Amino acid sequence: MNQTTDKSSESRPLFVTFEGADGCGKSTQAALFADALQKAGAKVECLREPGGTKTSEAIRQLLLNPASDICPMSELLLFEAARAQLVTEVIKPALAAGTWVVCDRFFDSTSAYQRVGRALDAALVDEANKIGSCGIAPYITFVFDLPTSEALARATKNRTDRMEGEGETFQEKVRQGYLEIARENPERIKIIDAAGTKDEVFSRVKAAFEAAGFAFPQVDSPSPSLSPSASNL
Ligand code: TYD
Repeated sequence: MNQTTDKSSESRPLFVTFEGADGCGKSTQAALFADALQKAGAKVECLREPGGTKTSEAIRQLLLNPASDICPMSELLLFEAARAQLVTEVIKPALAAGTWVVCDRFFDSTSAYQRVGRALDAALVDEANKIGSCGIAPYITFVFDLPTSEALARATKNRTDRMEGEGETFQEKVRQGYLEIARENPERIKIIDAAGTKDEVFSRVKAAFEAAGFAFPQVDSPSPSLSPSASNL
């Protein structure tokens, strides 16, 4: 999805997403980013997809259970259903109340996993993403990139959810999918080299955030509680 961002008031609360194939370390980085915001005095909603509401967590159980028999089209629609609930119940109200939203995965996961990984029709997935995200888009997205063999070695050994069980070929498609969507959305999506320590990777995240024209709120000066632009709501 090609969506533009309005950077006219860079330190207002933003919707920021963290993406990448399984084992890339994005969840750790999302937590570090949220921590940095909180330390600077910002209100932050830290979320993950699928999940974050009672309904979305119930859908998550169904989606990730290795015993679930789900065809690619149902899979797409279930991820979108979980997303629509999260956007409506949590993300839009948080942004409207001046809270930063840090989300571990959002619609770029669907582009990488369902569009590229599952080879579903691209236009159909783009349209489903528009519906599921109820018209909102992240202001900035970090995609954590790591060679697939390294990412899989990093992924916790005893985690065998239905998506992780798809194996290395699938994960490689997902990685290439992310690189493809980053090329399609250079303004919004920043690729971060995920090799190295968590502190090294986090300094790359901060540098990319600032290079994109955004700013962390200043410590001791509360962030302005401006609402995001109408184009992002
Ligand atoms: P999770 O345990 O949250 O994995 P991770 O810690 O890697 O984020 O499981 C989410 C899985 O669902 C993950 O394999 C990616 C997949 N997924 C999709 O296939 N499509 C989507 O739209 C989303 C949000 C996630």
